[in-house]
Amino acid sequence: MKIFLETYGCQMNVSDSGKIVYLFAGQGYQPTTDSKTADLIVINTCSVREKPELKIFSALGRYIPLKRKRPELVIAVGGCVAQQWGDKLIKRCPGLDIVFGTHQLDILPDLVSQVRQSRKAVALTDFQERPGGMEVMPAPAAEAVNAMVTIMQGCDNFCSYCIVPYVRGREYSRPHAAILEEIRRLAQLGIKEVMLLGQNVNSYGRKEKGEINFAELLAKVHEISGIERIRFTTSHPQDMSEALIFAFAELPKLSPYLHLPLQAGSDAVLARMGRGYTAADYLEKVRRLRRAVPEIALTTDIIVGFPGESEADFQETLAMLEKVRYDQIYSFKYSIRPGTRAAGFADIIADEEKRERLARCQALQDKISQEILAAQVGRRAKVLVTGASKRGAGEWSGRTPENRIVNFRASEDTRSGDLLPVKIVAALKHSLKGEVVG
Ligand code: 5AD
Ligand code: SF4
Repeated sequence: MKIFLETYGCQMNVSDSGKIVYLFAGQGYQPTTDSKTADLIVINTCSVREKPELKIFSALGRYIPLKRKRPELVIAVGGCVAQQWGDKLIKRCPGLDIVFGTHQLDILPDLVSQVRQSRKAVALTDFQERPGGMEVMPAPAAEAVNAMVTIMQGCDNFCSYCIVPYVRGREYSRPHAAILEEIRRLAQLGIKEVMLLGQNVNSYGRKEKGEINFAELLAKVHEISGIERIRFTTSHPQDMSEALIFAFAELPKLSPYLHLPLQAGSDAVLARMGRGYTAADYLEKVRRLRRAVPEIALTTDIIVGFPGESEADFQETLAMLEKVRYDQIYSFKYSIRPGTRAAGFADIIADEEKRERLARCQALQDKISQEILAAQVGRRAKVLVTGASKRGAGEWSGRTPENRIVNFRASEDTRSGDLLPVKIVAALKHSLKGEVVG
């Protein structure tokens, strides 16, 4: 039996898709990249930043006709769009067999068996107290150096532009014992770096009685031998505690790297977004972080063209890029998510204007990113080897502790997962070039 999986969107979706493949491997399914020979097609959808419906309807328009030749084919849609549409998606797309929500990942194999027997379409999208799928622990690939570990899901922040709380549900933190057990197992299987995942990891444990907090969780992960590097995403600046800042200084395995979404530089826009901090609050957190870990690399998310964003507001976003000097930014044009608060806001910015602001934002950031990379030349770094470089022939690829990509030549007995001392000799557009030293 073969499963064909199409994944859109964020790291959480990529992680969920890994879990789906793992669940079906246990049922004898092998992944395939050819939809025409698949027995099961799963589309894992995302609706955070775009209007994904057209893309999904067109994918289903390609896959549903495959059933004529392969009547036993089962087609399932999951993720954020499935969560929003529910059984309406089945009515809209006859031939679609399964719609499963973001809390139904673990029961997908049961739904597939059920549909194979009954040949009746099914939609299940109820939110559970504990989202199904949190405790699915996929085995890493043989060569894998890093692994994602879900520690919490959902969000209670309700930023005015964001669909996540509606499609992923309320915050739920996984018991820390289960998280640590999974990471211990990953370490035994050779994983060197874990990425702790959640929509709002800083509030880990906040709602669960007696649960430890995020900084305490990091300290416990730090004790696991075999794990060399710890990263996490996503942090909300508002919930970034002093204890977390302290953890960066105290825990050597915690990568000096942080993704800290800013969204906008204007206080008026931040207030309308419901972010709970001002630009000055944000800068103060950055100042404290850099005092604790001077070399820390920061990345961020930016939205341009939020309703009512004036040219002066936008200039404040640019000013923040200059002040913080991020390694990289992920910048997006604001796009309306029906059902969110901001969907009702006046003073919509024209698409043309949004496009122009996005281009200016990215041009400024390209310059800053380039300067930061250039400043690395001459430095030495412990590089975690992640695999052979795409360029081939004796070239390897790895990451510095600050998560910067380095390509370098190394001996043939080099292996993924090795930690090598590397001197940075050149800066390219998006990566560094190094030489192994010592
Ligand atoms: N429009 C544009 N960008 C958005 N994001 C979330 N919702 C929207 C939206 N409606 C961006 C934010 C968030 C990232 C995951 O996606 O920057 O941090
Ligand atoms: Fe969305 Fe805000 Fe929650 Fe992030 S913190 S997932 S932007 S609601």
